[in-house]
Amino acid sequence: MNFLLMLILLLLNTQLCFSFTVIMSDSGGPSSLQDGPQPGLSASSNGARTDAGEQEAVYDIMRATGNVWATDIPDVCRGRWHGIECMPDKDNVFHVVSLSFGALSDDTAFPTCDPTRSYISPSITKLRHLRTLFFYRCFSDNSRPIPSFLGQLGPSLQTLVLRENGHFGLIPHELGNLTRLTVLDLHRNNLNGSIPVSLGRITGLRSLDLSCNRLSGSIPNISFPSLNVLDLNQNHLMGPLPIPLLSTTSLMKIDLSRNRISGQIPNIKNLEDLVLFDLSYNALAGPFPNSLNGLKSLQALILNGNPFVSTVIPDNAFEGLNNLMILGLSNMNLGGPIPESMGRLTRLRILHLNGNQLNGTIPSSFSNLNGLSELKLDNNRLTGPVPFRRERVWRMGRKLSLGNNIGLCYDAKSGLGDDLDTLSSAGIGHCDSPKNVPTNSVQHITTLDDDDHVLKASTKSDYSLAKRITICRQIVWMAAVFLFISCLL
Ligand SMILES: *[C@@H]1O[C@H](CO)[C@@H](O)[C@H](O)[C@H]1NC(C)=O
Ligand SMILES: *[C@@H]1O[C@H](CO)[C@@H](O)[C@H](O)[C@H]1NC(C)=O
Ligand SMILES: *[C@@H]1O[C@H](CO)[C@@H](O)[C@H](O)[C@H]1NC(C)=O
Ligand SMILES: *[C@@H]1O[C@H](CO)[C@@H](O)[C@H](O)[C@H]1NC(C)=O
Repeated sequence: MNFLLMLILLLLNTQLCFSFTVIMSDSGGPSSLQDGPQPGLSASSNGARTDAGEQEAVYDIMRATGNVWATDIPDVCRGRWHGIECMPDKDNVFHVVSLSFGALSDDTAFPTCDPTRSYISPSITKLRHLRTLFFYRCFSDNSRPIPSFLGQLGPSLQTLVLRENGHFGLIPHELGNLTRLTVLDLHRNNLNGSIPVSLGRITGLRSLDLSCNRLSGSIPNISFPSLNVLDLNQNHLMGPLPIPLLSTTSLMKIDLSRNRISGQIPNIKNLEDLVLFDLSYNALAGPFPNSLNGLKSLQALILNGNPFVSTVIPDNAFEGLNNLMILGLSNMNLGGPIPESMGRLTRLRILHLNGNQLNGTIPSSFSNLNGLSELKLDNNRLTGPVPFRRERVWRMGRKLSLGNNIGLCYDAKSGLGDDLDTLSSAGIGHCDSPKNVPTNSVQHITTLDDDDHVLKASTKSDYSLAKRITICRQIVWMAAVFLFISCLL
């Protein structure tokens, strides 16, 4: 794991985490609860008690998750286990505002669920003041659809997290009744069918994560004016990119990777806060949109694995993307030369252009890419000298892949000859050597074994980028959970 990259991704995610903090601390439901610090329910706080109906409902919910111990607690708000949060109203009656379940880590003490027989009790609809409902890995061995009665939690619920619970079937359209939700997270279940249009009623949504399900159909033409995070990756979504959703100026993260989305990338403008834009492994076609230059905050643009067949990268394609650190354009069947202007993306750390039909030389401007730590140019039709100094080649080491091109070579004066290990494993010879005449260079320089090695290396690196991004997602998630937990404490 590249430490520097981790650092970048961490920094990148601080912004997302920050938005999560805002989300998590956003309280103020329609009820008349007293906000601010929750007064301790000590014996001396005379008269304070938990709403009797809610108390019974909590017992039901705890029984339904295998937490029978809780029914021995005479006052659940006084029980103060991690995972329940209450607030008093003006008459000093306490109401349940948050319930959380699931072992997130060894350090969190949310009640765990008995996975073989847990379910969500319908009594949950009696918690009229509930703002947060959180179930993590609770029902995996007793999987059921998401209950539609959750829609009855109506306008008080702000955060609904049903993560990795084995829920299958459709997303109930009743969830559209949760019009005050800011966070809807149904990550990694077995949900199928299409995304309900009714979700468009949740106008204040900031984070929508439906990733890792089996959702199909087109992404509906709905929009959320305050959306920060849109994550629909790893589903079976098809049809065109959703223009209304992608026009939401508050977006910071868009991940629609690993679906079956087709058509072209529309002109998206004004997404000045967008940090991550991942459309990789879909069925999108060229040309490149000419509007990316408005994405001033963009740090990662990942389009790998879309069939942009023979599309030439325009010289100004990435103009204005001054914060770009990760650019993934591999396995897209791009043709023509690598634009010289790419060398002006001076913050680039990771550049993947492998698996295309790119021809011509590596632009000399690439020697300006001082932060580059990973460069994949293998499996193209590139020719001419490698424009890097020895130090850079040495620093990138195995993360530089140049193999399987038709005529890349090194200039003796660059001092690169001393790094024959790196270069020859990538199939690169001396520019003046007759070996490097394009017609026979491939046979001469790379044996079958070498080829195989380079190919494997490049596939692996694609995975490693994906893996890093997954890890980065996990970091965001863990950070969010951490903040969320700190809010609860
Ligand atoms: C919820 O939404 C459905 C339609 O999506 C509607 O029929 C129902 O009346 C709504 N209200 C409640 C409380 O479920
Ligand atoms: C969703 O999955 C269930 C089984 O889990 C299946 O019965 C149903 O037909 C599927 N629906 C769609 C729309 O794919
Ligand atoms: C969304 O609207 C566009 C036109 O603005 C249309 O082409 C597309 O089919 C619509 N998508 C859906 C899922 O309705
Ligand atoms: C690169 O390929 C394109 C076709 O994709 C061709 O028109 C062009 O002449 C090639 N350029 C070089 C330098 O080989």
